[in-house]
Amino acid sequence: MANESFIGWMTSIQQYMEQALEKLLPSADCAPQRLHEAMRYATLEGGKRVRPLLVFAAGELVGAQADNLARIGAALEMVHAYSLVHDDMPCMDNDVLRRGKPTCHIAYDDATALLVGDALQTRAFELISQPMPDIAPASQLEMVRALAHAAGHAGMAGGQAIDLASVGLPLTLPELEFMHMLKTGALIRAAVLAGSMAGRELSAAEKEALDAFAKRIGLAFQVVDDILDCEADTATLGKTAGKDAANDKPTYVSLLGLAEAKRMAKDLHDQAFAALEGFGPQADRLKQLADYIVARSF
Ligand code: IPE
Ligand code: IPE
Ligand code: MG
Ligand code: MG
Ligand code: MG
Repeated sequence: MANESFIGWMTSIQQYMEQALEKLLPSADCAPQRLHEAMRYATLEGGKRVRPLLVFAAGELVGAQADNLARIGAALEMVHAYSLVHDDMPCMDNDVLRRGKPTCHIAYDDATALLVGDALQTRAFELISQPMPDIAPASQLEMVRALAHAAGHAGMAGGQAIDLASVGLPLTLPELEFMHMLKTGALIRAAVLAGSMAGRELSAAEKEALDAFAKRIGLAFQVVDDILDCEADTATLGKTAGKDAANDKPTYVSLLGLAEAKRMAKDLHDQAFAALEGFGPQADRLKQLADYIVARSF
């Protein structure tokens, strides 16, 4: 794997994850069909799969098994897909386009979209808590807890609450960073940590270094999302461009301006890289993903 090009590696993981998700989501042939179909609609065929990619890259660091990583990656992606379905609803960002398709509540209806989120989240926890070969129950429990923490009031859901309460408000830089760390950073961080819990035990210093990487890259991810919302076009993004300004959301771009937001993304990338210094070439995939996260065009 180490000699494959990054694009080749990324494509192979994305395909592997598509198959895993396809298998792990409920079949649209059995009842309740409409809910199952909508869960598949919101999760399959789309998305960059950044969180599963981080799970695999961190798993490489600890020699984890691919089957286990696919299951963990699927759980992370399901929580993420649920967060997007709810984020797009009229009561939140009110978006009609996601991953190049009509958003879930447009293709189905609000009640279905609400239930898709509920059901994806619980399916994720069902998957990540199933016994996995070669992972000690204590490590797995820690993994489940990390995901719960990242998805809940102190993570994604909490960040979304701050986001909604901040419309039109001039947040300070620390307030904005706190919001971003929670709404997006927490799940990205959990992806890195969960992958790293699926193999050999890391030393305390290694865990700390990896966590520093995960926090910086999680924040960088949302800074770049804010930049792209302002700079990229709808066709490239697969979601409506310019929504943050239209919704009067506080973002790194609205607070600092584009040039400074870009400098911030680069600084966070460099800090993330520096955190991995003590690891050998097993951390190369994480470094390549960090490059990708800040250089991506959608
Ligand atoms: C978009 O996430 C929402 C944020 C958390 C910023 P992604 O950019 O990972 O979206 P997909 O999964 O590729 O569609
Ligand atoms: C959403 O942030 C973060 C989530 C927890 C889903 P955004 O609202 O900026 O995400 P996009 O731009 O709609 O993908
Ligand atoms: Mg939002
Ligand atoms: Mg949104
Ligand atoms: Mg955005």
